Amino acid sequence: MDVSVAEYWSERYRRGETGWDLGGETPVLRELLQGEHFPAVVQGATGRAARVLVPGCGYGHDVLLLARRGYETIAVDFAPEPLAWLAERLRQEELLAQLLCEDIFQLPDRGLEPVDVVWEYTCYCAIDPRRRSDYFALMARLIRPGGWLFGLFFPLGSEPPTSGPPFPVVRTEVLALAQRYGFRLEWSMIPQTSHPARQGREELMVWKKEG
Ligand SMILES: C[S@@+](CC[C@H](N)C(=O)[O-])C[C@H]1O[C@@H](n2cnc3c(N)ncnc32)[C@H](O)[C@@H]1O
Repeated sequence: MDVSVAEYWSERYRRGETGWDLGGETPVLRELLQGEHFPAVVQGATGRAARVLVPGCGYGHDVLLLARRGYETIAVDFAPEPLAWLAERLRQEELLAQLLCEDIFQLPDRGLEPVDVVWEYTCYCAIDPRRRSDYFALMARLIRPGGWLFGLFFPLGSEPPTSGPPFPVVRTEVLALAQRYGFRLEWSMIPQTSHPARQGREELMVWKKEG
């Protein structure tokens, strides 16, 4: 079945074929939020919380983490099953987040106000590799000038993908596409705090959208 169709992912959630799900928040994001690099919760003269969008959020463990820390969080997935689980968890914890059951590529039609940050984790490797250029074009539309794309790219590969998901991520391709759509690489690293099963197989890249 086609990975660009919600039903492919819904079926996997219904069958419990969700090997990508770590069962909890991403350690690298937790560390980022404790450090000085991730944008502060309160920004600007209005004092509003920074807005963070999480594309292809799945069960949204990172959405919960961001919401707990006070970020205005927008969670997007086109499979309703994990969003239902996430909605219940938010309700239980009395947290707020905006949940959008949408194809990410349709988001520009939603008239969303541009966000301060996108937190990308395992959405890029889930989409059809032929749409990777569209993905960065989308990021350029969703993120405000001067905003940030925090991408934890997994799984790293050296060859263009031939099978997936997950479709391997080739570093040079990400660099070229991000630059083409107006992002400047601020820093990157192979995190030490990755989940043990992913240690050394993912790279954190922090991009700033040109103003
Ligand atoms: C590999 S899973 C990762 C989920 C989550 N990021 C995680 O780390 O557990 C990919 C997720 O992206 C969603 N997805 C894939 N393509 C999408 C699209 N075009 N629009 C919205 N969601 C999409 C799938 O439904 C799935 O929940």
